[in-house]
Amino acid sequence: MKVGIVGGTGEIGEGMALRLSQRHEVFIGSRERDKAQTCSLSCRTLLGSLELPCRVQGCDNQEAVDSAEIVILAVPFPHAANTISTLKGFGGKIVVSPINPIQRAEYFFHAPPPEGSAGLMVKRLLPADARLCVAFNNIAANRWRDLEKPLRYSVAVCGDDPTAKERVMELAGSVPELEAFDAGPLAVSPMVESLTPLLLNIGKYSRMKDVGVRFL
Ligand SMILES: NC(=O)c1ccc[n+]([C@@H]2O[C@H](COP(=O)([O-])OP(=O)(O)OC[C@H]3O[C@@H](n4cnc5c(N)ncnc54)[C@H](OP(=O)(O)O)[C@@H]3O)[C@@H](O)[C@H]2O)c1
Repeated sequence: MKVGIVGGTGEIGEGMALRLSQRHEVFIGSRERDKAQTCSLSCRTLLGSLELPCRVQGCDNQEAVDSAEIVILAVPFPHAANTISTLKGFGGKIVVSPINPIQRAEYFFHAPPPEGSAGLMVKRLLPADARLCVAFNNIAANRWRDLEKPLRYSVAVCGDDPTAKERVMELAGSVPELEAFDAGPLAVSPMVESLTPLLLNIGKYSRMKDVGVRFL
């Protein structure tokens, strides 16, 4: 598959690129093409040093959208709406939102926009024929980056387009040990997103790092 990552130079974007580029063609997008190229070079260097295959290139965010069948929006929630407004060409594409609107007081909590979730907000901002799924919200970037350990986690995928959801589940399932589960329609996205602050709270109060989930 061809996978574009908008904001692919960040924590989760680079982590996902490291795993996905071993099996798919990955386009790391950025607002700055040079930054994306530096990031893709470091992915290639790391994977090359481990003698792992790697198909990745750096580009600007628009090229990442244009080149891909699946576009992952790996930008922080406060910048998601603005980022989407600067890009075009989402029509007909499978778009994935791993975006978690989280705030922190004494503890972490889901702080969604008026639509009810980041995913539902993204849905409103995209063209009507974009095929949005919410997925990859609950695995910490450090886990994606730690290539020495398998990703023994589950990915909850929700969305209203069954074929898009199947494709995203296939993408997740292509990473060894990672298991994708159909979590239902996009209306479930507030639940998928709000699992992440729960994991962060468990991490904080139970003194654990990068807590994840596996559905059995
Ligand atoms: N980190 C995690 O463990 C994790 C896990 C699951 C889900 N998520 C979700 O994934 C998304 C990305 O998280 P992250 O931790 O990877 O974020 P991040 O590293 O802070 O930022 C990701 C990328 O967003 C771009 N960006 C930053 N500020 C921007 C702005 N003002 N306008 C447009 N683009 C901007 C940057 O790319 P350029 O400068 O190259 O344009 C940056 O590399 C978030 O919504 C988060 O909730 C994160």
